Amino acid sequence: MCGIVGCIGNGAVEVVVEGLKRLEYRGYDSVGIAALSKNRLKVVKDAIKVEQFLKRYDLSEISDTRLAIGHTRWATHGIVSEENAHPHSDCKGRIVLVHNGIIENHHELRERLLKRGHRLRSDTDTELIVHLVEENYKGDLLEAVRVAVGSLVGSFALAVICADKEEMVLAKRMSPLVIGIGDGMIFAASDVVALLERTKRFLFLEDGDCARLIPKGIQVVDSESGREVERRVETVVWNVEDAEKEGYPHFMLKEIYEQPRALQQTIGAHIDGANLSFRQANEVEQLFEGVRKVSFVACGTAYHACVVGSYLLRDFTRLDYSCDVASEFRYAPPPLDEKTVLIAVSQSGETADTLAAVRLAKERSARVLAVCNVRTSTLVRLADLTLFTLAGPEIGVASTKAYTSQLAVLCALFSHLATFAGIGLDKRDGELLRKGLLGLPMRVRQALEAAEEVTDRISKEFFRSQTFLYLGRKYNFATAYEGALKLKEISYIHAEGYGAGEMKHGPIALVQPDYPTVAIVVRDSVYEKMLSNVEEIKARKGPVIAVSSVNDEKVKRLTNFIMEVPEVSEPLYPAVCVVPLQLLSYKIATLRGCDVDKPRNLAKSVTVE
Ligand code: F6R
Repeated sequence: MCGIVGCIGNGAVEVVVEGLKRLEYRGYDSVGIAALSKNRLKVVKDAIKVEQFLKRYDLSEISDTRLAIGHTRWATHGIVSEENAHPHSDCKGRIVLVHNGIIENHHELRERLLKRGHRLRSDTDTELIVHLVEENYKGDLLEAVRVAVGSLVGSFALAVICADKEEMVLAKRMSPLVIGIGDGMIFAASDVVALLERTKRFLFLEDGDCARLIPKGIQVVDSESGREVERRVETVVWNVEDAEKEGYPHFMLKEIYEQPRALQQTIGAHIDGANLSFRQANEVEQLFEGVRKVSFVACGTAYHACVVGSYLLRDFTRLDYSCDVASEFRYAPPPLDEKTVLIAVSQSGETADTLAAVRLAKERSARVLAVCNVRTSTLVRLADLTLFTLAGPEIGVASTKAYTSQLAVLCALFSHLATFAGIGLDKRDGELLRKGLLGLPMRVRQALEAAEEVTDRISKEFFRSQTFLYLGRKYNFATAYEGALKLKEISYIHAEGYGAGEMKHGPIALVQPDYPTVAIVVRDSVYEKMLSNVEEIKARKGPVIAVSSVNDEKVKRLTNFIMEVPEVSEPLYPAVCVVPLQLLSYKIATLRGCDVDKPRNLAKSVTVE
């Protein structure tokens, strides 16, 4: 959450502004910039979005500076206000910093600093850090930051500058931070997306690193010992066009329509179409050698992918399993040992709760398999093996193309485990699933085409509804949850996902003529049961919007609206059924005037607990 960007070099403020625009999806409560100009630090900040900020403040005064840092905030400590916006300054305004993360011992630090006479102007945990740096600053900023972070409990990515010199100091613990290397310029950012226009060459800091950036170079030290450490320069493959809207009104819509391509790339990376084999067979077989149990863990949409994964596991293997939301995992972890594979699914690879679950599993000797979209993420570094989704950068806060790509990777994985001696249930089933996967991008394209016109009509009919119920069974149990999540997060309409069999145990009490139900009724093994649920809702005069397989007259007769999807094999249905639901949520949200790419209170990538 929050975004950090910094630059040393000509046009530093321009780079920072550009980066802030790209990073706004990470948090958009407030924005701020600090720049070194004529030996003085100038700070401009406000509790508004970047676009308004650039209209309100004239940055020309600092446009010739060669050192600048900037921040977009997602509030954790302290309300959304100008005082709480970053950058924060020390007592004399000689040192300023921006911070992502959460400082857990902030109460204790605040008391200590107040007793020592520091003037604190905000309610944030961040401001305390800059005063700690001030206390330790004796002419060497790197040393001051290194000593200061020793007093911090919690997570942080920091960029610090001082009026005395053209240098920037960074520090990282459990919050992402990268250094970009440009032509005569050095950059810092919490996410490579901020800098794709400027460079493809990055140095990824690790937990416990502190770094000094000066025009002539980079020095990285271990924050505890102060000893220099080496970090490799890596080249990222994403292009700047991947992070642009390319004519679409919102990133979310662009990403919904990118799904066939994202799936094509992802599936191609895992299945060799020529001989229908799973490409990472050897690594996966090694990882699963002697394994008895899989523990799935993730948050939000990625958790819904895990739920689908857990059904795949039950249908295709004889393995035992658990499936947890990562935010609950550490309170009562399932049994984990060297015979367990923890499957952690994450678009960003930086979700704090998912990473905490992975660390715990590693402590208990479990093997870790990541499904992740970001090659350079912390999750990938922690995992024993990663199966990548090749969805490209996902900027829209609501996850779409990353989700369907995660489903494809899990299908590919379990299609192979199905053929694996001692684990798999039926080799033939695994092969059929792989074959079906190769056709999935085309099926998703058909689902998109079919959904265009009908989602217009349905959204116009229902965008004023107060609440929605989503029902599904078996594989589409997860689709019901995901459909409801998509709607609530971008339209602010209350929506509940339910296993349809649970309906009679409570939610049916809600059904009445103004309470729409979205039912996923496709030709799969639970089709008849879903039809019965729809009958029950109709008997109580509840309007039903169905996701159905093509040409299903029965469903057509029973329901008010249908969104048709092409027929696919049962495990692949979640990937096609979610498509009209994504589009429907998007259209309802835009009709309600919601800012789809920057939903209220949300931010992409939850890097704090
Ligand atoms: C919802 C959404 C979130 C994320 C969740 C996990 O549309 O995007 O629920 O799925 O925050 O994020 P990652 O996948 O980055 O770990």
